[in-house]
This record gives sequence, structure tokens and C-alpha cells, in this order.
Amino acid sequence: MTTDVTVTDEAVASLEGTADPRLRELLTGLIRHLHAFARETGLTQAEWERAIGFLTETGKMCTDTRQEFILLSDVLGLSMLVETINGDRAAGSTESTVLGPFHMTESPVRELGANIDLVGGGEPCVVSGRIVSGDGTPLPGAVLDVWQADGNGFYDVQRPDLQPPGNGRGLFTTDAEGRFWFRTCVPSPYPIPTDGPVGELLKATGRHPYRPAHIHFIASAEGHSPVTTHIFVAGSDYLDSDAVFAVKQSLVEDFTPTDDPSLAREFGIANPFRHARFDLVLDHA
Ligand SMILES: [Fe+2]
Repeated sequence: MTTDVTVTDEAVASLEGTADPRLRELLTGLIRHLHAFARETGLTQAEWERAIGFLTETGKMCTDTRQEFILLSDVLGLSMLVETINGDRAAGSTESTVLGPFHMTESPVRELGANIDLVGGGEPCVVSGRIVSGDGTPLPGAVLDVWQADGNGFYDVQRPDLQPPGNGRGLFTTDAEGRFWFRTCVPSPYPIPTDGPVGELLKATGRHPYRPAHIHFIASAEGHSPVTTHIFVAGSDYLDSDAVFAVKQSLVEDFTPTDDPSLAREFGIANPFRHARFDLVLDHA
């Protein structure tokens, strides 16, 4: 006879036939922790039903351009935890942070120097730097995937009526000296989408939905481990209260006001402009 005392062990024992040992380990941990959670909180039937309803709505909210489950994982701090426990990178290498829910379309391949801000409206800026190996060796032919919200705080997939696909996105390849550079607008802080179950959760817990201004990157190069990260705009609001807990101090960069007509000409941007300069440092694989 199953009782509330024996059900956990019975459920774990039911996994005995699992061929994949890692799957068995994960499911065993999941069952034990879920059961411990229910016991510890005295979870009621009504609360359990509410939770099932919430997860059902979260699933229904997902489309090709909306990922409510990643958002849920983000606001619960789980995404950042998983990122951090797997981000065992060498000292001095660029730190990782969350992927976020908006890396859902392929970034268009662009030439170095291209402007990824196809609609304008934000403050023009240049982002430049190098992708280098841990010992400082530049990595030619490294690939930099970039995505960001527009000057109003929306990604292209959120505003298909106002932004062409690929706005704020680009896939760049570093030159012979490992350099990258592109034009864009200075991103602004934005609220994560609040019109779904995750928004309800934030409201019920009195939390704001804002993220500090940032640009997303995935940098990859042959023989190296790729890094998924952001660069945060120094001085942005919400750096100390990111709704998804993703800020790391080493990822905060100055977007320096720059008045330099010849440099502006070199980058093909109107003077004055803002300039963010940093290197992305990859670990050997
Ligand atoms: Fe973002």
C-alpha cells in the first residue's frame, strides 16, 4: 500500500529500468525535491491545481516568437543558476550570462561595420573590440552573434509591425586581427513581457519587470568554448535589480560619448557618437 511516507521511495524506485543513467539521476532528484517541496510547504490540492493551471498557461503562451518558459526560468533565477554552475571559465575570460528568451531567430549575416539598427530612433553608437584567446592571441574568423532591443526597448520579434525581421541582430566574423565592429543604437532598459503568466507572477510578488540596458552576444571560435553573454550599459537604471538576475560586474561597459570627426568618418557614423569598446576572451575548448 502506498502512503505519504512511502510514495517518494516508490516513485524513485519506478525509475529503475531507465536505460540512461543521467536521465535516471535527473528524474530521481526532481522527484525527491518536488516531494520535499510539497511536504515542506504543506501544498494544498487547490494550490497544486493552480500551479498546474499556471504551467498550462505558460505553455499555451509559447509560440515561435514567444518563449514564456525561458522567461519563467529567468525570473525564478534558474536560468542564471544553470548558467553560473556551468560557467566554469578561466580567470580573465569573459563571463557568461543568460541566453534570455529572444534568441529565437537566426541573426542575419552582416559585414563588419554594418548598422544593425534598421529603424533608427535610438542614440547612434559604435561597438568595437576583439575576440581573443585566454593568452590574448587574437582570433581571426571568430563568429559574433549579436541581438538587442531597439531604442524603445523592443526586439524585432515583439514588434513585427514596426521593425523588419533581423532588426537589432547581426552575425559578424572577426577580421585577420580578431577585430569586430558594428553600428547600432544605445540600447535602453526594457520590461520583459508582462502580458502572460510570468507577468502575473511578477505582479503578485510586487516585482518590477525591468532589465538594465544591454546587448546580447554569443562569441565562438574554433578550438574554443563559446560564450553566451551580455554587455550592460554602465550607468543604466536597474543594474542593481535586473528582473532576471543576470548582471555581472565584469560585463558592465562604458558607452563613452565620443566627439572625434575622423573616427566617426572611419566608422561611417555621424559625429558625435557613443562608443563601447571591449574584448571578448574565450577559453580553449
Ligand atoms: Fe535582452
